[in-house]
Amino acid sequence: MKIGIIGAGNIGGNLTRRLTALGHDVSVANSRGPETLTALAEETGATPVTVGEAARGAEIVVVTVPLKAVPDLPSGLLDGAADGVAVIDTGNYYPRERDGRIAAIEDDGLTESRWTERRIGHPVVKAFNGTYAQDILDRPLPAGDPGRMALPVAGDDEAAKRTVRELIDELGFDTVDAGGIDESWRQQPGTPVYGLRDGVEAVRKALAAASPRRTPEFSG
Ligand SMILES: NC(=O)c1ccc[n+]([C@@H]2O[C@H](COP(=O)([O-])OP(=O)(O)OC[C@H]3O[C@@H](n4cnc5c(N)ncnc54)[C@H](OP(=O)(O)O)[C@@H]3O)[C@@H](O)[C@H]2O)c1
Repeated sequence: MKIGIIGAGNIGGNLTRRLTALGHDVSVANSRGPETLTALAEETGATPVTVGEAARGAEIVVVTVPLKAVPDLPSGLLDGAADGVAVIDTGNYYPRERDGRIAAIEDDGLTESRWTERRIGHPVVKAFNGTYAQDILDRPLPAGDPGRMALPVAGDDEAAKRTVRELIDELGFDTVDAGGIDESWRQQPGTPVYGLRDGVEAVRKALAAASPRRTPEFSG
């Protein structure tokens, strides 16, 4: 599958490592340009590209940059992507330590992923946002293994969500359908499922136990 990854940090780097190992054709971009990604490219076989090129021909695009950087992404980010491209948003809002206060999230009540999709101009599927980056490398298990972790996946586009869930299964994790993007507060920072390392039933329970109120730690 042709996959574009925008952001080559903790999450983007490890997704590049695993997805290339699985045989996918991965293009990867960061803010500083492809010439700064030669080590990752040599390690993985991924193609370093500019942000504007990352989605070209891609069936899946992963947006995995700090939330505060989302408005800096170029307009037309998804131009040239394959029809029906699934866009994964791994982002989290950390107002205190990184992103600054965003009124549309805190006052208007937009979920973090709704805010992001309005900025990039394309629907997203929220996934990996509560997954420790190192777990992407260390914790994949085959389907049916009783210790297999499950990840919540939210999105409005059912076909895109299915594509993302199949990819996550291939990466070695179960998934739980966490509803649409308006429900995706259930997996945001500070909720019971955020950072949870457990299986399908525990993830379902944690999603059901979530509160829509932001905790003080994650309020600006
Ligand atoms: N770390 C985790 O375990 C974890 C887990 C789940 C979710 N998340 C979330 O996933 C997102 C990414 O986290 P991370 O830890 O992978 O971040 P990170 O290690 O700080 O890496 C961020 C990446 O985004 C790139 N970037 C920044 N601004 C950009 C721009 N304007 N255009 C293109 N690329 C840009 C950076 O490129 P340069 O280095 O060239 O600036 C870097 O490659 C965040 O929202 C985070 O909260 C993180």
